[in-house]
Amino acid sequence: MDKKTALITGCSSGFGKLAARTFHDKGWNVIATMRSPERETELTELDDVLVTRLDVTDTESIDRAVAEGVSRFGRIDVLVNNAGYGGNALFEQMSDEAIRRMYDTNVFGVMNVARAVLPLMRSRGEGRVINVTSMAGVLGFPTASVYASSKHAVEGLTEALALEYQPLNILVRSVMPGAYPTTRFDANVDDELGVGDEQLTAHATALATHIRSVVETMAVQGGQQADPQEVADLIYECATGDTPVHNPIGADAQMIMEMMGGSRQPFVDQLAGMVLPPQEAATK
Ligand SMILES: NC(=O)c1ccc[n+]([C@@H]2O[C@H](COP(=O)([O-])OP(=O)(O)OC[C@H]3O[C@@H](n4cnc5c(N)ncnc54)[C@H](OP(=O)(O)O)[C@@H]3O)[C@@H](O)[C@H]2O)c1
Repeated sequence: MDKKTALITGCSSGFGKLAARTFHDKGWNVIATMRSPERETELTELDDVLVTRLDVTDTESIDRAVAEGVSRFGRIDVLVNNAGYGGNALFEQMSDEAIRRMYDTNVFGVMNVARAVLPLMRSRGEGRVINVTSMAGVLGFPTASVYASSKHAVEGLTEALALEYQPLNILVRSVMPGAYPTTRFDANVDDELGVGDEQLTAHATALATHIRSVVETMAVQGGQQADPQEVADLIYECATGDTPVHNPIGADAQMIMEMMGGSRQPFVDQLAGMVLPPQEAATK
């Protein structure tokens, strides 16, 4: 059987790097993309892993990475839109520039890469797109309001694309992690908590401290921190198996889904039956 190829964004650390290793270990070709490939020392050692530059906000770099990947491996079967970042701040504490920067990466970045890869999948008559969103994409998350709104955007995009592309044999899925201790997810998160007047900063600090303890308690499973590898494994499962459109992961995520009444998939199935022509609605 021909080797399949996955293109993954944000492979310098965290879930992206783990996903690149996971696909490689399962025998796939991997186009492991990142903003600074010259710093990468681990993925460059692996066979059939092309480490190349891709900044999701730079469409030229996307086109170049896609062309390089196709020239090396012949095709792209799976796109994993993983690149993204968070930040703890009240809405008023984030500058217009910081909000737009976050949307450029977390929302328009996903659209930019999907726009470059979907035509290739359409011409081959198959493919899968997996968007790494967040549980913050389905709930209002105080102290991460802009981040949460960016992930809500990608959750909505994922569901609509899942329905748009299902008739073309292209599956679109989201992986929605709860809180995981990835390499640098926390690195930039508290920068803005001190911005603003006294009332705002006091409120932000109190809220952030409380929320951090709630999130940490919920994310710990059996006394152990959640293992980021399980997110990489779920990404792989979405690339190869039969999964719902939205895929929460983590003990905290499961707890929140129960509070929300369980999986959204029965609703998505009904929606598909309503909005798609009858012969095209009968898949997950
Ligand atoms: N960890 C969690 O608890 C958690 C929970 C829910 C969702 N998530 C989501 O999971 C995804 C991966 O995050 P992570 O936790 O693995 O954090 P991470 O270790 O910080 O990884 C984030 C990756 O995104 C890359 N990136 C940022 N901006 C980019 C851009 N403009 N173009 C290309 N790559 C860019 C980073 O690259 P550089 O090295 O160049 O900065 C890095 O490789 C994100 O979408 C995040 O929102 C994480």
